[in-house]
Amino acid sequence: MSRILLPTAENLALAAAAIREGKLVGLPTETVYGIAADAFNEEAVRATFEAKGRPPENPLIVHLADLSELERVASFVPVAAYLLAAQFWPGPLTIVVPKQPQLPAVTTGGLDTVAVRVPKHPVARKLIRLAGTPLSAPSANPFMGLSPTRADHIEGNLASQLELILDGGPCDVGVESTVVDTIVEGRVRILRAGAVSQADIERILAGTGFIVEAAGSSTGEPRRSPGLYVRHYAPRTPLRIVERLGPEDAGLVLHPPLNPNQIELPRRAKPYAANLYATLHDLDRRGLGEILVQSPPETGPWAAVWDRLRRATGKMH
Ligand code: TXA
Ligand code: MG
Repeated sequence: MSRILLPTAENLALAAAAIREGKLVGLPTETVYGIAADAFNEEAVRATFEAKGRPPENPLIVHLADLSELERVASFVPVAAYLLAAQFWPGPLTIVVPKQPQLPAVTTGGLDTVAVRVPKHPVARKLIRLAGTPLSAPSANPFMGLSPTRADHIEGNLASQLELILDGGPCDVGVESTVVDTIVEGRVRILRAGAVSQADIERILAGTGFIVEAAGSSTGEPRRSPGLYVRHYAPRTPLRIVERLGPEDAGLVLHPPLNPNQIELPRRAKPYAANLYATLHDLDRRGLGEILVQSPPETGPWAAVWDRLRRATGKMH
């Protein structure tokens, strides 16, 4: 196990030094915990893929301290990218833009585009500033596993490959950032649903003529996100979505629990998402035969929750 440290000035300096030396650091963000490395250090980025057991063609998100740093990693900033960044950064929106040639190909899985975001968590922003370099950071879970929303969710095998983990407390958002592609002119395509909803994006782009394409839509050109596997974000215990749980069933409910293996989640999308992974991590550690999830509402604000639940079952339809 690597050390879990509070983000004091001294520990932040240790973490920044580790990044500059090409080591990996467990990083709190407002969405989920990530494995941070210097995005310009090929070896450190390779070690990141290895730590996760992630295929090399699945690109990493590059994290900046500020919008003004975007040109360090982007060769060009499309208008839609600029409008969305100005509105949602710092925050849980990742924007795919053309890549700066100096950024190593390993970081972007060989693509000529790069996914970028400015995280909101103060510890993340302080570390990026102190390290003095953009940080690549995939979620700190083994490939296909459940993302950590607390420092102690990072599992031992992976944690042992990190120099240290900064403990920034539980993540506020609790699901990964929304990913949008702004490469195709006139369009913004949502590649991964997240806390920033389609309606939020449409509101900002209203009147600009940009077309916003929903996550999973098949219109337009076939550009897609290499990391969108059908089975993903999954606990080890099989998971199934049902209308209601019986008194003997284990899982997530939207009403007071009927037994100790039922956990009640809030009936609103944001607090539900904030607690979803933590409750799944908890249930996953109990050695249950199956986790049942009471079907939440299907309205727009629940899109990110539904996306993660469907992927956790391994069935998108
Ligand atoms: O909330 C988050 O985004 C967290 C925290 C740590 O910031 N990070 C995260 O990273 O979820 P990761 O690596 O687990 O997911 C990155 C996603 C993948 O689906 C990947 O395929 C997609 O972003 N992606 C990265 N670069 C891309 C690119 N150039 N084009 C299209 N999709 C890209
Ligand atoms: Mg991930």
